[in-house]
Amino acid sequence: MVRQRRPSYGLNMPSTSKGILFLCLTLCSFMLASPTLAKPFNTRGQTAEIASLIKWGPCDVEAEGLFPVNGYPNIDVYPVQCATLSVPLDYTNPTSNQTFILELLRSPAPNQPSRGSILLNFGGPGVPGFAELFYSAPLLHSYTGGYHDLVVFKPRGTGKSAGLLCARQDDDKDTPEDITEFSDLESILENPNEWIFSWNTTKTMVEKTVKVTEKSYAKCAENHKNGGIPEYVGTTFVARDMMQIVDALGEDGLLRYWGISYGSLLGVTVATMFPDRIDRLICDGVANAFEYYDRGQLSHLIESNEKFLAVLDECLAAGADKCALAQDVDTGITSRPEQVQLLAKAIESLWHRLHQTPIKVENGVVTSGDVIRLRDNLISVPLGTTAGEALESARHLHNLLNDQNLPELILARELDNERKKEASKYVQELSWPFIAIACGDRTGVQAHPETLDDLVSEAKLRVNTSQLWGHQSAYSGALCAKWPFESKEKFNTSLFLLEGGVQTRKPLLFIGTTYDTRTPLQNARNMSSYFARSAVLEQRGFGHGSFLAPSTCTRKAVKSYIMDGKIPPNNTVCKEDQALFETTSSSSPSTVNLLLPILISMGVAVYHR
Ligand SMILES: *[C@@H]1O[C@H](CO)[C@@H](O)[C@H](O)[C@H]1NC(C)=O
Ligand SMILES: *[C@@H]1O[C@H](CO)[C@@H](O)[C@H](O)[C@H]1NC(C)=O
Ligand SMILES: *[C@@H]1O[C@H](CO)[C@@H](O)[C@H](O)[C@H]1NC(C)=O
Ligand SMILES: *[C@@H]1O[C@H](CO)[C@@H](O)[C@H](O)[C@H]1NC(C)=O
Ligand SMILES: *[C@@H]1O[C@H](CO)[C@@H](O)[C@H](O)[C@H]1NC(C)=O
Repeated sequence: MVRQRRPSYGLNMPSTSKGILFLCLTLCSFMLASPTLAKPFNTRGQTAEIASLIKWGPCDVEAEGLFPVNGYPNIDVYPVQCATLSVPLDYTNPTSNQTFILELLRSPAPNQPSRGSILLNFGGPGVPGFAELFYSAPLLHSYTGGYHDLVVFKPRGTGKSAGLLCARQDDDKDTPEDITEFSDLESILENPNEWIFSWNTTKTMVEKTVKVTEKSYAKCAENHKNGGIPEYVGTTFVARDMMQIVDALGEDGLLRYWGISYGSLLGVTVATMFPDRIDRLICDGVANAFEYYDRGQLSHLIESNEKFLAVLDECLAAGADKCALAQDVDTGITSRPEQVQLLAKAIESLWHRLHQTPIKVENGVVTSGDVIRLRDNLISVPLGTTAGEALESARHLHNLLNDQNLPELILARELDNERKKEASKYVQELSWPFIAIACGDRTGVQAHPETLDDLVSEAKLRVNTSQLWGHQSAYSGALCAKWPFESKEKFNTSLFLLEGGVQTRKPLLFIGTTYDTRTPLQNARNMSSYFARSAVLEQRGFGHGSFLAPSTCTRKAVKSYIMDGKIPPNNTVCKEDQALFETTSSSSPSTVNLLLPILISMGVAVYHR
């Protein structure tokens, strides 16, 4: 049993610990989405007679923070059950009898009898997933057909076990220098203009990040000198846990799984490790596994400007009534692409102008930082800013372009910051799990850079590749550089490189949306090429993960894959049901709106700071 100690984070945590969390909040490049999948029992199958070893019981909803919001989800129809399962702590040591207790939550199939279970993972790495399944169960059951139990498990090192990752001893104290280092770093981070756009600051950022993390991580290593959990939380162990769950469920011994974002990475990993045990496997919002296991995601920085232009295009399509920025285009120009280009240029010049000369108004100062914030809000729609909030930001950008109503912008900024602070609490809890899993999984040179210069050029490369959001992952290399633990069993991506692709028992389904800013569609195409008979479904739209934006077409395809094992033709295209800025007229909140609070906590906080 390894999970009895209390988490090391919390309100009274020492400041270096806080600093790491703050750093990660800013620099970790999470792959998160809010998001969700099985096959009829084969009663003649060899394993079918094994009774389930998992004893489902009521969930401690209070401890898990699961409360229906306005009667949603309707827990009479979508009840949840909880259970635990003991699994080996160290799969690489067959003689060890140490165990780890996995926590599980399931939403039973609304249509009984159930045809088996679908496991899910909602991203991260480091998202425990309970709340995500709880709130999205109705939506996910509608995608999967409602005949399967949906099951999430808190991956190792997340949830309560997160506290074991870098638990501090009672006598761990921060020195005054530590505290100064952190506040220096904090003040740079708080001014994005500084650290995004000056190469000198880039260098300083790398140096400070390495220095500060080195010290804190060394302390962590010291506290774990007789072995510790950080080595056991890597993705391959999580994949092995999944198969333990499949065995314990006592169904047909096959895996049915839907992984979103980082969950897709877990998906390709488990499919490669256990190809003949795959019954259904969906990778949605697909991460590039070569990049993840090497230096961290990189391809999402490509074509960022095109994705921004696509959002502006939606704004123009929605018209000035909905999206105020549409008033700022020159209607003398007939071609929409030109209008979009000019609008983007106007926003860029606005940024430069304010960078030179901030505007003082009665209740504060408007700076170029505001342009970045508003633009980020606009681009984040697919990540969880609601359309309403994005349109609000469009209105403020419009005001700024026209030098009007600026005091109102300052007030809105304060509200925005409050909202993000609230959201960041959730993301903070993901910081140690993220570092332990993502940094421990890395194998490439970036995981063990020779020199600071390597890290500086990595940061520069990222900022150069994407002017819009390169800065968000610029320092992730620096964040991992001094991480002292290696996952005990690392995944080797050369396992993908089989002649004819990895031969899974049943083909994999990859889903990507056209303008995903976190996990681009090209990743889905890339990963598909390594899995025999797999297919890519393109959802034409903006979400990170397909079901953020409803698509009847995608829903049908997923249902048919889950229920009948039908794989759509490769590169099938599905439309989304609504345009990006179209809001539903119905007064009852749509399912997706109910998901948004979760999404905001998951995506946007990281996205902004
Ligand atoms: C676990 O292994 C240790 C050392 O091999 C042994 O002393 C201990 O009794 C074992 N514990 C259990 C519960 O089997
Ligand atoms: C990034 O762009 C700057 C300015 O254009 C250039 O000086 C620098 O060499 C580039 N760095 C990398 C790593 O591409
Ligand atoms: C991965 O496997 C390949 C082929 O078996 C081997 O050459 C390579 O050294 C392995 N890489 C690592 C990091 O173990
Ligand atoms: C997939 O992505 C990796 C990493 O970017 C790249 O090295 C590889 O060539 C890509 N494969 C295909 C088939 O595009
Ligand atoms: C599906 O199509 C994509 C894009 O053309 C391609 O990269 C991928 O290799 C195809 N998948 C398979 C299994 O052939």
